[in-house]
Amino acid sequence: MNKIKKTAQFLINEFGEIPSVAVILGSGFNKVTESFTDVKSLHYDEIDGFPISTVPGHKGELVVGKLNGVKVMAFCGRFHYYEGYSMQEIAFPIRVIAAAGVETLILTNASGGINESFEAGDLAVITDHIKFFDESPLRGENYDEIGPRFPDMTYAYDLSLSAIAKNEAMKLEIPLKRGVYAFMSGPSFETPAEIRALRVMGADMVGMSTVPECITAVHAGLKVLGISCVCNMAAGILDKPLSHEEVIAAGNAASDNAVKLLSAIVEKIA
Ligand code: HPA
Repeated sequence: MNKIKKTAQFLINEFGEIPSVAVILGSGFNKVTESFTDVKSLHYDEIDGFPISTVPGHKGELVVGKLNGVKVMAFCGRFHYYEGYSMQEIAFPIRVIAAAGVETLILTNASGGINESFEAGDLAVITDHIKFFDESPLRGENYDEIGPRFPDMTYAYDLSLSAIAKNEAMKLEIPLKRGVYAFMSGPSFETPAEIRALRVMGADMVGMSTVPECITAVHAGLKVLGISCVCNMAAGILDKPLSHEEVIAAGNAASDNAVKLLSAIVEKIA
């Protein structure tokens, strides 16, 4: 707890007033910070307790700047379980920004599409998630000061934020799907049999991030919006293998719309 408070105070000292909105940028959303003005950034290794991101295509910086005139904090590079971090390490930065004053967290990611009405390149609002993986970022001692032992997840993805995303996408004429995101720990992509099983369970997309962060954020009282870039159809749906390069390429192709949509959303919620 002390470490969380200490690091939160460090961010306040470095950045000054902390924005009320933070966004974690997944593949396809990385370019958002190119539209930032008045930028101040810190490398993760300058922030005590922050893990260091190791995935190609992820930078590893915490940035504060103005997007569309609105002050926003952005994580350029996120911490994935498959990189070897514990769930608690993944939780730490989220707890820190909540302690520093962030109120809304926008979680973005790249996913594989399970719902066959989705296509590679689609953006989708995350309405709910599935995590049948037995580790939780909240496992272990509960910090009552942060949140309850058994946090409610009924409205984990805030309904009014999702409605804002939908409206802004409509105004911009950006097609926006919606669906349930299933967390898989990776780093191997899923097998076709796993994807069939996830479909039966009600998943529309699958990915290797976001859910640990969402759980931590909800516990800490943050409002969460989830937006996914469907970068490929999940394993076995199309008759071809998956690759990380394909994910990155589709993310880049969807990037302009992702930036436009995020800018419009932050203007509405900040
Ligand atoms: N599976 C898991 N994670 C992913 C995928 C996928 O198909 N695409 C992008 N991230």
